[in-house]
Amino acid sequence: MSEINTTDLMSVCKRRGFIWPSFELYGGVAGMYDYGPLGCALRNNIVEVWRSIYKGREGFVEIDSETVNPREVFKASGHLDEFSDYITYCRECQAPFRADHLVKEFYENPDVLGPRELDAAFAEHGVRCPECGGELGPVDEFNLMFKTNIGPGSARVGYMRPETAQGIFVNYPNLYRYNREKLPLGVIQTGRSYRNEIAPRQGMIRMREFNQMEVELFVDPEDKDWVRFDDIKDETIELVPNTTGEMVTMTVGEAVERGIIANRVLAYFVYTTRQLLVRLGVDPARLRFRQHLEDEMAHYAADCWDAEVLLSYGWTEITGIADRGCWDLSRHAQFSGADLTHFKRFDEPREMEVERVRAKHKALGPVYKGKAKDIAAAMESLTPADVVDGKVTVSVDGEDIVLGEEFFEVSRVTEKVTGERVIPHVIEPSHGLDRIFYSVLEHAYSYNAEEDYTVLRFRPEVAPIKVGVFPLMEKDGLDDVAMDIYRAVHTSRVEAYYDGSGTIGKRYARMDEVGTPWCITVDYDTLEDRTVTIRDRDTTEQRRIPVDDVPAVIDALLAGKPFSEL
Ligand code: ATP
Ligand code: GLY
Repeated sequence: MSEINTTDLMSVCKRRGFIWPSFELYGGVAGMYDYGPLGCALRNNIVEVWRSIYKGREGFVEIDSETVNPREVFKASGHLDEFSDYITYCRECQAPFRADHLVKEFYENPDVLGPRELDAAFAEHGVRCPECGGELGPVDEFNLMFKTNIGPGSARVGYMRPETAQGIFVNYPNLYRYNREKLPLGVIQTGRSYRNEIAPRQGMIRMREFNQMEVELFVDPEDKDWVRFDDIKDETIELVPNTTGEMVTMTVGEAVERGIIANRVLAYFVYTTRQLLVRLGVDPARLRFRQHLEDEMAHYAADCWDAEVLLSYGWTEITGIADRGCWDLSRHAQFSGADLTHFKRFDEPREMEVERVRAKHKALGPVYKGKAKDIAAAMESLTPADVVDGKVTVSVDGEDIVLGEEFFEVSRVTEKVTGERVIPHVIEPSHGLDRIFYSVLEHAYSYNAEEDYTVLRFRPEVAPIKVGVFPLMEKDGLDDVAMDIYRAVHTSRVEAYYDGSGTIGKRYARMDEVGTPWCITVDYDTLEDRTVTIRDRDTTEQRRIPVDDVPAVIDALLAGKPFSEL
């Protein structure tokens, strides 16, 4: 692993069109980046791998929901009340700071400190403004959501979503119906999320507008297993449990048996995240899964593991995998009044004691006379949930009749029950696409200071350009053959790049710098024997292959055939 020269890496990213700070023309805005052509290609390739795992292997469905949501959504989800960081301003220069970040060298887990504890920590450790040395003001709460209005005026307040997840939860009834009212129900969504981060100073790690690839799996609360768990139970994984804070390597099966990971389905998706990240090019030696401390968990989480990657910024969370329990659906059911349950059918009908509303016939008869029988029958289907303020309402012959407690009672009866309604639990792997993108870049990066030579060793599957095609000289028909090869190879799946200028060494260097795994060179021998040179980026090894075989050879290499076996 070479020392990361982040200045060189960022300059390559900017110069070669991976990422650009947004609005540079107007001085830039902290925490905002645009993706250039190569960045877009790399990012799309990352998304495709994620999609192929979840939609392909696991059979999940994908949706795309709105980024502006009405206030009600985030009142129910808890974000309006809970989604805050602690802020402090310098009394002298007015610069804002995230308060917990200012004391991180003194506490193992500063984000559990409250505002007054942070004030006290500043005083105890003599913390002052990092910009000007001024005194810091009192710590306050700062909600991270961007607020807006939906339509003119301020009658309908909206917020930019801080996670894509809520769009899946509020669509649960549609998704449940689409899945023919069955669990498990797996849904994925990728798109923009917005957080008005207080002081984004870590490049793509902390952006104000960023991309997520989120996965929400709705499961039966009593069946937290996964159909393919046995396939991976003997695989090893690097875990940092919250009981010890020490990294241990163990099998996924052992982690569940020892109660380190709460259940098999959560463990399966922790391991799936490892598979995904390693396949994208994250170095397994710089990857670990850290369990949240009890007081660190988000307001919705019952158990949570962060995939952390070692970057030049230190260990950094790039994915959070949480068991969100029934938090989201219960809250949306409570706030919207909608039924967000699953009907869980028993294998065999069960005799169960249930509470039912039953008519008091003696009271009904004298008051309702001829209608009393129909009213009693209409009450048969009522449950205690239908009792509102001590009254029930039934409809008889098109007339709504409100009945007080003198006409009914709630009693326990034994019935044959075919199933029960449960609120599904949610398992969520939430991937930060930009953080993954940046990790893939840093882990692919290799810099030779002596030769001032940069190579991005992307895994071929994610490399933005798969093949460089060069004519030795742009004359004598070499350029025509090279252009034919370029056209034969360049498809929507395989991006090729034709380069006819500069020495071959320079052209290899240009392709190495953007991580192109293979280059094809057409030379004078090609005109004689219709063969070309193919060069491997990582070994710089070269072979000769027939011109007509180039597309098939590239396909085989992309499918994993070793270069040495060509
Ligand atoms: P952090 O503690 O670093 O702010 P978080 O715990 O708030 O992160 P989550 O709320 O779990 O992050 O969000 C899920 C994923 O979304 C994260 O793992 C991360 O990859 C990504 N993410 C969150 N905030 C940002 C951001 N400001 N910029 C880029 N990616 C982000
Ligand atoms: N959906 C998890 C998060 O973004 O916080």
